[in-house]
Amino acid sequence: MGISSSSSSFTCWIMLVLLVLTPASFAPQAEARAFFVFGDSLVDNGNNNYLATTARADAPPYGIDTPTHRATGRFSNGLNIPDLISEAIGSEPTQPYLSPALTGERLLVGANFASAGIGILNDTGVQFLNIIRIYEQLQYFQQYQQRVSTLIGAEQTQRLVNEALVLMTLGGNDFVNNYYLIPFSARSRQFSLPNYVVYLISEYREILTRVYELGARRVLVTGTGPLGCVPAERAMRGRNGECSIELQRATGLFNPQLVQMLNRLNREIGSDIFIAVNANEMSLDFVTNPQAYGFVTSQVACCGQGPYNGIGLCTAASNLCPNRDIYAFWDPFHPTEKANRIIVQRILTGSNKYMNPMNLSTIMLLDSRT
Ligand SMILES: *[C@@H]1O[C@H](CO)[C@@H](O)[C@H](O)[C@H]1NC(C)=O
Ligand SMILES: *[C@@H]1O[C@H](CO)[C@@H](O)[C@H](O)[C@H]1NC(C)=O
Repeated sequence: MGISSSSSSFTCWIMLVLLVLTPASFAPQAEARAFFVFGDSLVDNGNNNYLATTARADAPPYGIDTPTHRATGRFSNGLNIPDLISEAIGSEPTQPYLSPALTGERLLVGANFASAGIGILNDTGVQFLNIIRIYEQLQYFQQYQQRVSTLIGAEQTQRLVNEALVLMTLGGNDFVNNYYLIPFSARSRQFSLPNYVVYLISEYREILTRVYELGARRVLVTGTGPLGCVPAERAMRGRNGECSIELQRATGLFNPQLVQMLNRLNREIGSDIFIAVNANEMSLDFVTNPQAYGFVTSQVACCGQGPYNGIGLCTAASNLCPNRDIYAFWDPFHPTEKANRIIVQRILTGSNKYMNPMNLSTIMLLDSRT
């Protein structure tokens, strides 16, 4: 996994040759570790802006706390989890794969394939029409590898992918935008909740197996956060603003089975490829004790309307809190940048309660050795 100094000088040499021989110039990127992101709105950083879908964050006040104060497609007031992971590993933020700006040497930083609204299942998020479902994200990943091969050759591309960090965030929408989307949904008539979770986990295993086949060797797999405690579910299903019992039950079934599945996959492969990120524990800390983290509330979203600002979308017409740093939730479903920072800090240095079998600091240390 590691980059030895002799092979990295070899990479520099290759880069130098490319620099001389090819019309487009490539800066030496030997030390930077590529980063690939797959999943839903928690990690989409703008792909849906390029699609005909209603699931997008391309209008104010999204992005209000970015340097330009402009909406980027991230479902956040500022940075999201992948941005902060890039920051932590010393890389440039990944570009949305559909961005026309993602060409040439920028490709070597990695890419973000995520698309708001999608889930593990192909039928999750159908109401959003044109979104990039997970198998399509993986097809794009294959296409990405072909594009990079024309720049640096097949062997170097394989190495770049093998040495990359991958983030996979799926599952929340399979409950919120599928099973529980409407009363008596097709999936809820087909499956009891426990059986639905078993089905989701088996489908997720197929997806992760495919990610491994495509060359990924370090994959952070996030479980769901406390789905029932987001402002939207408190408003729509919770009694007196409490967390929704059904969605908390779903969270409680899904997350431990995900960890078991990842452990099994690692055992079968014989290596710690898949790292479980316990997003539920990470978020529960500030959801149950917001004051300890500098938040005035974890019940009310900063941007929205209705009870807990949990109804409908966050738009220019919504209520908007003046200080986003004292809210855990930015909109009815998504954390603020401040909350994302707490999560990423746990990803980096968290104990086994948060990161199984190891945190990102340990991964970085292991992978930097030959
Ligand atoms: C989802 O779609 C992909 C690609 O279209 C297909 O390979 C896969 O079998 C589908 N999954 C299910 C459960 O139908
Ligand atoms: C990361 O995980 C390792 C191993 O579990 C642990 O020893 C360490 O304290 C954690 N934190 C940091 C900062 O590495």
